[in-house]
Amino acid sequence: MRHGALVVAVLTVAGLVAAACSDSSSEEATRAGGEVPASSTSRPPGSATTATGTPCDPAVPQTCTLRDLADRRDILIGAAVRPGPLADDLRYAEVLAAEFNSVTPENALKWQSTEADHGTFTWDDADTITRFAAEHDQRVRGHTLVWPNTVSDQRYGTLPDHVAEAPDAETMQRHLDDHIEAVVTRYADVVDRWDVVNEPLQTAGAALDPNVLTETLGEGWIVRAFHQVRELDPDAALYVNEPLVERPGAKHEALMDLVVRLRDAGAPIDGVGLQGHFVSGQVDRAGLETVMQDWDELGLEVAITELDIPTVASDEERHAEQYAEVMGACLAIEACVEVTLWGLTDAHTWLDDSLGPNSDPLLFDGDYEPKPAHRAVAATLAESE
Ligand code: XIL
Repeated sequence: MRHGALVVAVLTVAGLVAAACSDSSSEEATRAGGEVPASSTSRPPGSATTATGTPCDPAVPQTCTLRDLADRRDILIGAAVRPGPLADDLRYAEVLAAEFNSVTPENALKWQSTEADHGTFTWDDADTITRFAAEHDQRVRGHTLVWPNTVSDQRYGTLPDHVAEAPDAETMQRHLDDHIEAVVTRYADVVDRWDVVNEPLQTAGAALDPNVLTETLGEGWIVRAFHQVRELDPDAALYVNEPLVERPGAKHEALMDLVVRLRDAGAPIDGVGLQGHFVSGQVDRAGLETVMQDWDELGLEVAITELDIPTVASDEERHAEQYAEVMGACLAIEACVEVTLWGLTDAHTWLDDSLGPNSDPLLFDGDYEPKPAHRAVAATLAESE
């Protein structure tokens, strides 16, 4: 399968399974406006002692965790997190705390997770993850407030039914307003950047995604959502997040047009997330730097928000090189503030659900052993500025 076709297939499957939010472990439901998570201090301290307990010497990257090295470069290194293994697997929690200065709830903040049924809010999973982050001085990316995209023939792949099937535009807009208010109010203290809208463009192609929100409310719902989040959480950086925009081309151009249009209409947009679901061998570092530079020139920050690169054991060196290229591109462009992996260990990756077992896309293997890609990212971070 060609690169584009493979990635589209993966993303399409992802959208289909999103509705199920398969790793959501929480059963307990509470009403909106319940208690804010107990530990809610958030900002990273840039700690002087290293997570390994020995002095981190960047000249000897093995003495440092990724987190040590990223703190020194003033860059975020993150991982998407699932509440199940975080609660059940001590090693998962240890590695997450030691190696990453940021976390992104993989599914726990999605609308299907927090309010699958109208008016019944489920916070346990998001609370578990954000509390862990606060306790370990990690920053939190709020992914994602609204992901309305069409999936295959469905017009509302990732929206709860009560939203997609709202009887009229006014009701739909009210659901949107209520959802954003409930989630942002609850997590404003711990989340410091929000993916306000996820995948506004069609996955394959460059047109605006013809989803039920945009069809019913017009593009203005996006502008309104950004305003609302800014008002509720004035200190957070607000992002548009999009796949398949990691190199120049029609989709990158379309995203730039959309962001400029939304900004001209008053939307307070601070940054753009490039999801970064790559295929090994297909990372185009020069292209990646070019698109990041374009965003920089528009005065926006940029983040790699969902990095993963599936591979096979025989190809681990190339896998490592590809990771180093992505990390190197981010470090080379001033506007790039973050590289977040879409998972922690090969034992838990969404790609196994869509591509089949052993997609092995991440930096740690199933036994939490760092892979060559981990060493390559560490070495790139350790290189002198
Ligand atoms: C994926 C999760 O990893 C899966 O567990 C879930 O079943 C579907 O969603 N783009 C995104 C992410 O923005 O939210 C998706 O995450 C992967 C594609």
